[in-house]
Amino acid sequence: MTIPLSSEIRCCPCFLAALFIVGAGCSNGSGTTGTSSSGGAGTKTGGVTSAVGGGTASSGGAVTATGGVTIVSGGTTVGATTVPAIGGQGGSGADGGSVAQGGSGASGGTTGQGGTTAGGGSGGQGIRDAGAIDAAPNASVGPGAAPPVYNGLRGQDFNSGWKFNRGDVTNGQNATFDDSTWRNLSVPHDWSIELAFNQKSPAGSGGGFLDGGVGWYRKTFTLDQAYSGKKILIQFDGVYMNSQVWLNGTSLGTRPYGYSSFEYDLTPYAKFGSTSNIIAVRVNNNQPTSRWYSGSGIYRNVWLTVVNPLHITNSGVFVSTPTVSSSSASVSVSTEVQNQLTSSQSVTVTTTVFDPSGASVASDTSPASNVGANSTATVSQSLTVTNPQLWSTTSPNLYQVKVELNAGGATVDTYLAPLGIRTATFSSTTGFSLNGQNTKLRGVCLHNDLGALGSAINYRALERQVEIMKAMGVNAIRTSHNPPAPELLDICDREGILVMDEAFDCWESAKVSNDYHLYFTQWAQTDLQALVRRDRNHPSVIMWSVGNEIPNPTTATATNLKNWVLAVDSTRPVTWASVNTLNANNQAVAAVLDLQGYNYSEGRYDQDHTAHATWKLFGSETSSAVRSRGIYETPASKSILTSPDTQCSSYDNSVVSWGSSAESSYKNDISRSFVAGQFIWTGFDYIGEPTPYPWPAKSSYFGIVDTAGFPKDIYYFYQSHWTTTPMVHILPHWNWSAGTTVTVFVYTNCDSAELFLNGVSQGSKTFAAGAVHLEWNVPWATGTLRVEGKRGGTVVASEEMKTAGAAAKVALSVDRSAISADGRDLAFVAADIQDATGVLVPTAANAVSFSVSGPGEIVGVDNGNAIDTSLYKSTSKNAFSGKALAIVRSTGATGPIVVTASSSGLTSGSVSLTAQ
Ligand code: GAL
Repeated sequence: MTIPLSSEIRCCPCFLAALFIVGAGCSNGSGTTGTSSSGGAGTKTGGVTSAVGGGTASSGGAVTATGGVTIVSGGTTVGATTVPAIGGQGGSGADGGSVAQGGSGASGGTTGQGGTTAGGGSGGQGIRDAGAIDAAPNASVGPGAAPPVYNGLRGQDFNSGWKFNRGDVTNGQNATFDDSTWRNLSVPHDWSIELAFNQKSPAGSGGGFLDGGVGWYRKTFTLDQAYSGKKILIQFDGVYMNSQVWLNGTSLGTRPYGYSSFEYDLTPYAKFGSTSNIIAVRVNNNQPTSRWYSGSGIYRNVWLTVVNPLHITNSGVFVSTPTVSSSSASVSVSTEVQNQLTSSQSVTVTTTVFDPSGASVASDTSPASNVGANSTATVSQSLTVTNPQLWSTTSPNLYQVKVELNAGGATVDTYLAPLGIRTATFSSTTGFSLNGQNTKLRGVCLHNDLGALGSAINYRALERQVEIMKAMGVNAIRTSHNPPAPELLDICDREGILVMDEAFDCWESAKVSNDYHLYFTQWAQTDLQALVRRDRNHPSVIMWSVGNEIPNPTTATATNLKNWVLAVDSTRPVTWASVNTLNANNQAVAAVLDLQGYNYSEGRYDQDHTAHATWKLFGSETSSAVRSRGIYETPASKSILTSPDTQCSSYDNSVVSWGSSAESSYKNDISRSFVAGQFIWTGFDYIGEPTPYPWPAKSSYFGIVDTAGFPKDIYYFYQSHWTTTPMVHILPHWNWSAGTTVTVFVYTNCDSAELFLNGVSQGSKTFAAGAVHLEWNVPWATGTLRVEGKRGGTVVASEEMKTAGAAAKVALSVDRSAISADGRDLAFVAADIQDATGVLVPTAANAVSFSVSGPGEIVGVDNGNAIDTSLYKSTSKNAFSGKALAIVRSTGATGPIVVTASSSGLTSGSVSLTAQ
């Protein structure tokens, strides 16, 4: 079957979007890039235009704190404060997520300051239970380590014990509503990923053919009497989308943008003691709402935070480093204090900086100041760290800042923030520098889905993505095109990854009919400032992006957006990702913004650099080459975008009309020192936007790595240019037929490579001027193709590709042999279809069934095949190019887990790991 090429009908990358757009076409602009080495030279016509019950927290009341702050990390008490238990339904019976309540005994509590200034309470702010929540499962939390999530490490896991109903109901917000037949589950939860792909879905191909619609969540919980008199706050890291939240039948508000984090004050409507509270959340994903797969539901973490009426506000601590040298850094800390008491309060703020080893290296207590009744005041401090250990991509040294709010002789709130001491600067002539060292941004764009897990945030899944990217040599991620899960930034802080933190995919004009343009005018300031406040303490974040390929941009809006950013963070540049620098509107906006992000406009780098000498340029989106793992179409020198198998070629020769090959984009970037670097579209495949094919294609082909996390060949191209440890990689596989002359590519960072077929040299090659890979034409013969990479004449790396025989067995491997028994942690189990001698059968598509024994459960399966529309939530999957994946989650108990995979006619395989 030959599928019509969408490249022929698509005039710009937003074409899928354009199908839904009223009055915004792919019309303006004409920026010809002509950069593709493989014939696809693009004309980029731009411009489309609970603790709940479960094991945390001591039960009720007044545990006397013994100094400091108590922080629980994976069940270990590390440090001070008392938190009465939040009663609730406990975490049992969840069918959608785990129920584990990891770290126990988190009691934190301060001080019981005897009811004076802080409203009579025992001062305990909630202590985030890092073991139970889907944040860093094994992170060491406490002085010297970065907190796992935003908002000062004060919230408690509020993820378990929810009820869920897909579809709308009447009066679901009422306390008396009967939800007994609803499904029990834990959040984060994405209902769309559980559904069958639907060719007629209003999500369209952009949204990956997975339906959204309306869903309801309800949770019944009690609040310990000891909380009475305190502020009870709930934080949602993200609900997609149009959430409405009620407590005990009273509306708390609505939040249209599904990617924003937000907080409500439950206090006025909360009941304490044995009386139950009902929180209800209605979600409406009235598709199409994003140009990619968004997921639907409460898909990120939920926290409950208990503070005194005198407290630090949400994201209210801002840490920056105005001056940094190798001998000294000034650390500026501003703390927003909210006094919700009826009398003015005298406060001091004690701020302590801990170095990466946990040693206190600077401390300051502010002079006493008054915060008026029902008002907010900011306390500013400046500290000095001598001989700072700078944060960098290679040494991501993380300090931690502890901010204590004191009143009436007691600490009434404590807030923890990460600190990375570094400078990040952009120049119109030399690009980007980190700590004064010129550094190319070796970046990738990432959407927020996690393959078979959908958009339901999982810390380990996110961490694995970053690890895979980092091993390729990536040092930067763009959060295209929306605020990320906050955990991504924790991971990037730790891993030394630079972040382009992006807010929006549109402003006032639509890309798809129900996207954010409907809410932009009313909500943009709120959403943008929430993002910047939440993320501004992360050293990984080096720029704020206010938009991607904005249709009909105006300087007025750009100016507003920039000013809103500056009002809450003036330390970082503001940028956007612009598709067409020739467009007059875009040019005008460029003058407003600090950095010029170019999408697919590399062909204009030189002339724009000449015409606008002050512009600081980088490739915010490059390449958009497409490929399928293990699929090869020849000739390798020709752009091939149509194939009967609806797959794309892995020779870097499938390139969309507006894009360019990986090699071409690499050369465009590396050859210009004034360009700060590039963000390739994309690091991972994502669900939706299956360019260039229509149904049944449902996920992208753009990824360097497929949705399952298996690298495509191009991964090694980047690795060969972005890493230095010796490596070689051969493509294609070695299962061809007699008489075929095979084009063999070798990616290597060695000086030269020699290729052997069955021990016979096919010649040694070095890189000709301008070449970025090595190439041979080899008459195929069954056997072994071997490449040896040499430096200075010595073989330092090698790889073999063998002809595989018939499929004989399934072989399993796992990414980690031990995972946390917290009910959240994941093991990624890869199944390879092998011949009798253990060689991967590169064309195998055998059906594989997975099963698990022990305290683990399968939460998703995948194979990276863009046209596979079988369920992600399943226990079986056909292999694609010889491989399949099962994702196994711990159930909460410790013990050995054995994963087994069987396939008809093949010998089964198994792999063991431990939940501990
Ligand atoms: C870009 C757009 C991305 C994606 C990409 C595909 O123009 O910003 O979101 O659609 O095209 O090539």
